[in-house]
Amino acid sequence: MLNVVVLVSGGGTNLQAVIDGVEKGSITNTRIAGVISNNQNAYALTRAQKHNIPGICISPKMFETREKFNEKFLEAVDVIGPDLIVLAGFLVVIPPAMIEKYRNRIINIHPSLIPSFCGTGYYGLKVHEAALARGVRIVGATVHFVDEGTDTGPIILQKAVEVQQGDTPEALQRRVMEQAEWKILPEAVDLIANGRIIVEGNRVKRL
Ligand code: GAR
Repeated sequence: MLNVVVLVSGGGTNLQAVIDGVEKGSITNTRIAGVISNNQNAYALTRAQKHNIPGICISPKMFETREKFNEKFLEAVDVIGPDLIVLAGFLVVIPPAMIEKYRNRIINIHPSLIPSFCGTGYYGLKVHEAALARGVRIVGATVHFVDEGTDTGPIILQKAVEVQQGDTPEALQRRVMEQAEWKILPEAVDLIANGRIIVEGNRVKRL
């Protein structure tokens, strides 16, 4: 059984997709052991509560230094002892010590087709604003393992979505979530839970 901790900052629709996958059986061999938010008011914490999943808040704002936060954050994760850490709209930089300790056991959902519209400064709605400003016709989402870079780790799954005439950033964000994110994030968790992928260098191999 894969023990998963999900890290969130906001609405938690991707968390919901994973919860639904586990409850409905499209994700097997998986238990969501906890949810950690850096934002006490994140609706994601309410979603966790509704499904009897323990949720806690830990934020850099609660500590005098980033080092102290990083230390306590790692401790909070270690207490849960996850096999997999899922970043589902988590907007805090993962401490290097956590990346090292949980190498190839942290995955992230990013709302673009990496390597487009990713890296520092590209998160949430900004990604969709940039895609519309550039005039691309195809966007999408990516699930990847987390390494020391920003959105640079091995890619697990990607799914493309078409831009439509008259799209606003909000409309595009919603379509990318519905058509891509909420599908590929649960699928990636299921693949990992069932030992269906391995990492070879910076590439993921499907077994
Ligand atoms: C999602 O679109 C996710 O891909 C994005 O934040 C949103 C969170 O929504 N993540 C990033 O931009 C990370 N760089 P949610 O809280 O409803 O899942």
